[in-house]
Amino acid sequence: MPNTIVVGAQWGDEGKGKIVDFLTETADVVARAQGGNNAGHTVISGGIKYVLHLIPSGILWSNKLNVIGNGVVLDPIGLCEEIDKLRGQGLTITSENLIISDCAHLAMPYHRGLDQAREVQRGDKKIGTTGRGIGPSYADKVERTGLRGSALRDPDSLCDEVAERIKEHNVFVTSQGIAPVDAEVLLPKLRAAAEMLAPHVTNTVVALHEAIEAGKNVLFEGAQGTYLDIDHGTYPFVTSSNTTAGGACTGSGVPPRFISDVVAVAKAYTTRVGSGPFITENDDIGDMLHNMGREFGATTGRARRCGWLDMVLVRYACMVNGASELAITNLDGLDGLDEIKICTAYELDGKTIHYPPSTIAEIERCKPIYESHQGWKQDLSGAQSFADLPPNALAYLDRVAELARTPIKLLGIGPAREQTLRR
Ligand code: IMP
Repeated sequence: MPNTIVVGAQWGDEGKGKIVDFLTETADVVARAQGGNNAGHTVISGGIKYVLHLIPSGILWSNKLNVIGNGVVLDPIGLCEEIDKLRGQGLTITSENLIISDCAHLAMPYHRGLDQAREVQRGDKKIGTTGRGIGPSYADKVERTGLRGSALRDPDSLCDEVAERIKEHNVFVTSQGIAPVDAEVLLPKLRAAAEMLAPHVTNTVVALHEAIEAGKNVLFEGAQGTYLDIDHGTYPFVTSSNTTAGGACTGSGVPPRFISDVVAVAKAYTTRVGSGPFITENDDIGDMLHNMGREFGATTGRARRCGWLDMVLVRYACMVNGASELAITNLDGLDGLDEIKICTAYELDGKTIHYPPSTIAEIERCKPIYESHQGWKQDLSGAQSFADLPPNALAYLDRVAELARTPIKLLGIGPAREQTLRR
């Protein structure tokens, strides 16, 4: 497998973790290049459910190198908890199979406090963040005041610096009614985390280039989705990183020239967590999926907002990411429906448009234009190949590929690794 980027074509939670896990079989290296533990991938393997936030999905396999790249914002204490949990589930995690960029920025508990305090300040206009301090961590990075992975190598200086910052931040967060960070509780945890993680910290750019030179394949595991991208998403209801394919290059130091494939992942319907416009949102579909026990966030447990598949978004995402193929997930979520709708265009102020407008005000004026498809009314979860799918399901997929102008090569019909079909 050549070097491949996996990205989300919607608002995150497209099931990228499962697709990455599937593609990892033929990859040697799995890298994260943006985001932090705002992401949550649930992967079921061998009947065991693993929830990954910062660690690349390659950790579920033996003999894969997992890289947390320079573009990630990393919560050291959260990462240690994640490592401990996965070790408790029987996984082996060492400095041989998990490396952390010395240039990745550190997300600290005071960033979490700031994130939550700013949400309070925003009132009705809140973004609905995961509260993991992602925006404030990237703000420090861009403002050039951030602490980086290399700081984990010197726990004394790190703790001294963080103690100073906690004092400053606590003044603001307490003014917004958010609990201040307790330095006495935090600093010992941070010191322990730094000591545990330091052996993993290295120049990951060199490690990735050495791997590529040795003929190894890298799989870039995107977090969040295209419409949460800080540039291309539904700003300001976005995350603070570039979630699109270009972000994989800047966030890892692997140049575009070395990338061969981009897999865009989309659900067979649409979901979104947090605030912001959602043109095809439909409460009936939401109720149906929630009653099936589906569409609750892996990171926050929040019920996701749900709606029909919006192909205006998916097509534009394929364009921005340069998708060479599409992976459609959760097709089985639509099994029970008589009629399935696809949004093919929007009506904006009396005109038909085929792209998402850039401003929230315009998006809010858009009305979805739907076409209707007959459901297959059959349980898909046992299908072993595309050939086992009922004609109505195949027709739905064909239409999706046509609208996306991108072939569908992977299909998810259930949570287990065996329930990903390749065409
Ligand atoms: P933040 O990334 O925590 O700042 O949150 C910004 C927006 O991105 C909010 O709407 C979140 O719900 C959303 N978001 C962040 N990470 C994810 C994810 O992994 N899946 C889905 N939505 C996410």
